[in-house]
Amino acid sequence: MAATKRKAPPSPTRLAPQIIKWFCANARDLPWRHTLDPYAVWVSEIMLQQTQVRTVIPFWNRWMKRLPTIAKLANAREPTILKLWEGLGYYSRVRNLQKAARQIQEGHQGAFPTNPLDIKALIGVGRYTGGAISSIAFDLPEPILDGNVIRVLTRVFDIVGDPKSKVVNERLWDQAGELVVSTKMGVSASRADSMVFAGERSLLNQGMMELGATVCLPSNPDCGTCPLRRDCIARKEDRIEQLPESKKRPPPTLRTFITIVLHRDGEVFIRQRPKGSINAGFWEFPSLETGDRKTSVTAVCRKLFGTDAAAVQIDRFKHSITRYRYEQIVYLAEAPPDLDCGHGEWIAASLPRDKPFYSPQIRIFKKLAS
Ligand code: ADE
Repeated sequence: MAATKRKAPPSPTRLAPQIIKWFCANARDLPWRHTLDPYAVWVSEIMLQQTQVRTVIPFWNRWMKRLPTIAKLANAREPTILKLWEGLGYYSRVRNLQKAARQIQEGHQGAFPTNPLDIKALIGVGRYTGGAISSIAFDLPEPILDGNVIRVLTRVFDIVGDPKSKVVNERLWDQAGELVVSTKMGVSASRADSMVFAGERSLLNQGMMELGATVCLPSNPDCGTCPLRRDCIARKEDRIEQLPESKKRPPPTLRTFITIVLHRDGEVFIRQRPKGSINAGFWEFPSLETGDRKTSVTAVCRKLFGTDAAAVQIDRFKHSITRYRYEQIVYLAEAPPDLDCGHGEWIAASLPRDKPFYSPQIRIFKKLAS
């Protein structure tokens, strides 16, 4: 039987100008695309880790208004930065952002580093984020590779195998690297509608992100509008739906928590999470991980407060973080008069402006107001 002839891979020097041209005509107007300030770009990239563009926009706008410079971030109080990140999740990002701002103050005289190695050495900045900042803020030929870019590359170049495996992942980084050094269009750095781009490497990398986010979608990609449709091997071979060949993830681990909203005289009881714990510094209603769904609320009240309290269930919801699926069962309980709740505060039952809460807690405040 004759071997099937493999198609020659498309040339990066042919693809790069098509991506740039398409991006210049189709870039979404996003607030961080109106600045070349590396600090602003950095903040956007950290917020965009694990978070969708439309969620990030109001958070980025608020952050840049309140903390417009590295120095302001380095000197900000912890509750200020946690409050600005409240609801965005993955809170180690915001602590690392401040640690890195202090790293810049001490190690770079307060000026954002301009060298990719120094950028990638900042706390919380990995290979992808370092590549994104280097190219977007400084037009440096540094590659980027995230889920969106992986989708475009595996399809256009027909790259099989698990993209997270070492060999395939390195191949994808190499391919992304070849593309970003293949930009020779002489495109100027700005656009009429006031978005600004540092140059062609920025346009190329952001074009790849944008293609993956808006055209080369996981299912039902819009191949008809794709600038690479004539070159894409997967399209020519009708293999789009098979790529990327991602491994099935194991099912998430379920964790059940019972949360108690203690109330007394129109006020509710909150406490601050201790240093070193998950979500340290954030405030919450007392809660206990029960390990199963059978533990009674009475047992939880005894464990948390050393006494019983009359409790009614007011909410039950699930949310996912990394590989966990959290189930929260929420009770409203009247505090017995002699109850000593330990460290914490009694406050009005609405979200305080001066204290940060993580996302499920914000939902509980909304429930209390409804
Ligand atoms: N995802 C990651 N970085 C991004 C950026 N700069 N613009 C849009 N989406 C992104």
